[in-house]
Amino acid sequence: MNRTPAFLMSLRFLALSGSIAWAFLNAAQAGVSFAKGDLVRTQRGEMLQFKGEDLVPAGKGQEFTVLAHESVRGVVYVGYTKEDGTLIAASLPAEIVTPAPRDGWQDLFQGMEAFREQRYEEAKKLLGKASQDPQHRVLASGLALRVNALLTAAGQALSADPDRKSAGARIFLNAFQGMRELSGQLSQAKHYSLALALEEGGERLAAQALGAGAVAGLPATKVDRQDLQQRASTAARALARCRQAVPLKRLLEASKEIGAGLAADPMRPEFKPFEAQIQRGIEDAEDAYKSANAFRRHHGGTVHALSALEDGLKRCADHPQLAALKKEMQGAFEERTAPPLTPPLLAAVKYSGSIPQLEEGRKLYTVRCTQCHDLELLDSRSMSGWEKAVTGMAGRARLDDKQKTRILDYIAVAQSSLVPAK
Ligand code: HEC
Repeated sequence: MNRTPAFLMSLRFLALSGSIAWAFLNAAQAGVSFAKGDLVRTQRGEMLQFKGEDLVPAGKGQEFTVLAHESVRGVVYVGYTKEDGTLIAASLPAEIVTPAPRDGWQDLFQGMEAFREQRYEEAKKLLGKASQDPQHRVLASGLALRVNALLTAAGQALSADPDRKSAGARIFLNAFQGMRELSGQLSQAKHYSLALALEEGGERLAAQALGAGAVAGLPATKVDRQDLQQRASTAARALARCRQAVPLKRLLEASKEIGAGLAADPMRPEFKPFEAQIQRGIEDAEDAYKSANAFRRHHGGTVHALSALEDGLKRCADHPQLAALKKEMQGAFEERTAPPLTPPLLAAVKYSGSIPQLEEGRKLYTVRCTQCHDLELLDSRSMSGWEKAVTGMAGRARLDDKQKTRILDYIAVAQSSLVPAK
């Protein structure tokens, strides 16, 4: 990944206030390119696309692993893990993603993945960088040493000079033996994904350096490869699904994924930062559930119960008790989010405009605005707040100006019909 040079960044700032902003902005954006394996973060919510169709909404701040970056088309392909565990390449507009902050572990992990996938220059660079990281120095420099020894020996074994070539093959054999030992140690230390990447990378390199036929004669593995494969893929899938679930506040799902991921590959540190965040969110949701229930038992407390419920679901969208309570209070929810246009309602607000147009607004609102999330309580924001929200969402809901106006007209009428909370 290349960062935008500093001078372009400052141009970008200048350009923002200038009338020729676009030329500069495009120049600046062209400077950021993403490599396979980079972690990127969305700067706003957006629909992931798959084969030209909307796939699922991605929340703001969601992190994805890059599969490919097509800078000409301005598209980044990222890995998306479906419910059944299959990985697909979904796309996002490049301008809405930024590099996620990196750490030494990521350099180490991505470096080993690069080695496994025979991208050797990248592997050397990343492992070298990880070896400077105070927290992962020991592990990273051990791996860097092994990988570099294998690569140097492989280079010699591929030499055109027969003497150099046979000496190279002997050195490679030695390095390969060392690789088997290190992956055995890694596996014993429960660094399963790293052990697997080292083993697979080492074998691919051996096939390249000595010829595919020679691999069978090399020192045998000391690890249970099938077990490692299962652990590594379980952990990768769990991490991807956890990264997908947390920004959408599906915290119980995320928590389950973390459990599965850590059981499979206990030394992977990526799960840790999520744990505290998830714990807090679930606790907040539980508090919200308790207050919603208390309000509900109170005469006239329904409106407060609904707000507590909405608040709780914003913190934890898959909390089973909150979800059950919401179902129970569905009728009351509809009354406060998208009330039907009954004659008493229209009479109460003294509406004199076109009723079919108002009906159309309600229909658009209840159909188009629920594709990605639930409707909010109408009194959760002022009319100017609703204007901002609908304007902000119009692109995502594919609304033209007329449809936008219809929705806002409906919201205004529906909001003014609400009986205020006691
Ligand atoms: C294509 C998916 C999608 C559609 C369709 C959609 N939204 Fe959203 N909406 C989102 C996402 C994702 C968020 C999370 C916040 C963000 O990323 O901006 C969101 C957030 C919101 C919020 C909360 C914003 C905040 O600042 O807290 C409101 C209100 C909202 N949407 C209203 C609407 C309305 C009204 C419509 C219909 C006009 C609509 N949405 C249609 C995806 C969508």
